[in-house]
Amino acid sequence: MTEVTNTVRFALDGQVVEVKGERRTTTVLNYLREELRRTGTKEGCAEGDCGACVVLVGELNHDASAIDYVPVNSCLQLLPTLDGKSLKTVESLSRPGVAQHPIQEAMVTCHASQCGFCTPGIVMSLVQMAQVTPEPTRQDITDALSGNLCRCTGYKPIIDAAQKACENTASLSIQDPMDIKLLKQIKRSDHPTLSLEGDIIVQPVVRTRKGNEFVSPGTLAELSHYLLEHPQATLVAGSSEIGLQVNKDFVRPDHIVYIGHVKELQTIQTLPSHWRVGAGVGLQEVMHLCAKELPDFSEVLRRFGSPPIRYTATLAGNIANGSPIGDSMPCLMALGSQLGLRHGKKTREVALEDFYTGIKKNILQPGEFIEYITIPRLKANERFAAHKVSKRFEQDISATCAAIRFTLSGDKLTHVRLAYNGLSPYPARAKKIEKVLEGVRPSDVKTSDLDQAIAQSFTPRDGLRATWAYRALLARNLVLKFIHPLDLEVSPS
Ligand SMILES: Cc1cc2nc3c(=O)[nH]c(=O)nc-3n(C[C@H](O)[C@H](O)[C@H](O)COP(=O)(O)OP(=O)(O)OC[C@H]3O[C@@H](n4cnc5c(N)ncnc54)[C@H](O)[C@@H]3O)c2cc1C
Ligand code: FES
Ligand code: FES
Repeated sequence: MTEVTNTVRFALDGQVVEVKGERRTTTVLNYLREELRRTGTKEGCAEGDCGACVVLVGELNHDASAIDYVPVNSCLQLLPTLDGKSLKTVESLSRPGVAQHPIQEAMVTCHASQCGFCTPGIVMSLVQMAQVTPEPTRQDITDALSGNLCRCTGYKPIIDAAQKACENTASLSIQDPMDIKLLKQIKRSDHPTLSLEGDIIVQPVVRTRKGNEFVSPGTLAELSHYLLEHPQATLVAGSSEIGLQVNKDFVRPDHIVYIGHVKELQTIQTLPSHWRVGAGVGLQEVMHLCAKELPDFSEVLRRFGSPPIRYTATLAGNIANGSPIGDSMPCLMALGSQLGLRHGKKTREVALEDFYTGIKKNILQPGEFIEYITIPRLKANERFAAHKVSKRFEQDISATCAAIRFTLSGDKLTHVRLAYNGLSPYPARAKKIEKVLEGVRPSDVKTSDLDQAIAQSFTPRDGLRATWAYRALLARNLVLKFIHPLDLEVSPS
């Protein structure tokens, strides 16, 4: 393990690339195209929507025996986040003696590329899928491609190519023992660096002459110490939102703190009553975590962005970002999630429903950050349901997402918790609508009572994605969708 400051180091095809003097907000895409001249990776939208820029970023697995690669929108990732990681671009797929990866060969034989602009991104998404799901179903393939747009082919030949390539699983792996060796060499220490006086020193990955910097602490102690000293610093987790701000609004924060290497934040604890999810855990992992016990939450996450977004974006980033149409929050509020908010050495726990104070405003104090999120697990007789309504099935933002948790006490709904996004300045519980449902048999719930409570709960406003009339109708119909299946379980009065 070595410490090298002011240098971004990553493994690329059996070599360590050392970058000095780049800006802290240079994107991986721009560095690849403009500095390394790896122009196979394309820029389509620069906002995470088209997938033309997908590359693979890998980290050592739990026992350092292999590298786990995830698909990443290189247009949104900041170059310094690559420090200590392995990168694979479409050019990485041709090696001595191997001109093309089987996915590329199949793309050719199935006529899956026409103008070719989308092809490198599509190949990289499929190559990553083949690493984790070497025998994919058609659904696995369409899920893997949900963040890749192709204007020419109509997708069928691409899906055919993926199926054909995966008929022979033996040659799909992109593991390279040299990359594993290099990652061990460039791994940063996971113990804080201390001064002679015993104070924590957080080494910069990038520092400018003006003193602006990008840091990537390895421990919670370093992160909280740095934020106490630089309370205005910008936290970066998955960068799906920050990358947009950099590309579209030309935001250039003076101090950037990346939390992707903070080991304590990457963990999930499974407890009898809840899961405790660290702020660095990606949405893809949360989607798998909840699949069995909270399938509707998992389904909302399956429709969250696309694999490159979900593999990088975090639950904490979604919450901290605080979009009125953020998708995880209605589910978490209905479940009763708590947030662990860390400031220095202290952590306070607050309910997620008390976190927001206005549009994209929250109760975080300067220097404070989300350390973990709890996701409550259901007890016997408790039910949870959620549904996201959007124009497209995936890679689209909600018109409304609603979630409900309740107990079925005999034939009545009790302990009802209901939350929405899209209806108010921030995702929130709908307590007046909860009251309409509380203590009532599902079949006795009146739509007129629901409509009245909806009108009393929210200030009508039309949005770009949906009119108020549509959203109000959804708010009612989603409740009916959640409770109607219970009619079959509860006998009529
Ligand atoms: C193509 C695309 C599709 C998307 N689809 C969806 C969607 O379907 N549903 C949806 O809800 N959102 C969607 N988003 C929005 C975004 O991806 C999410 O809000 C995501 O969860 C943000 O997480 P992140 O880790 O990438 O955050 P980042 O971009 O790293 O950070 C976002 C904000 O949170 C702050 N932050 C991050 N971590 C912490 C922490 N631990 N403590 C305090 N502050 C923190 C950052 O400083 C920043 O202000 C999409 C975005 C894109 C680009
Ligand atoms: S360029 Fe479109 S997703 Fe990156
Ligand atoms: S082949 Fe032209 S966009 Fe896909």
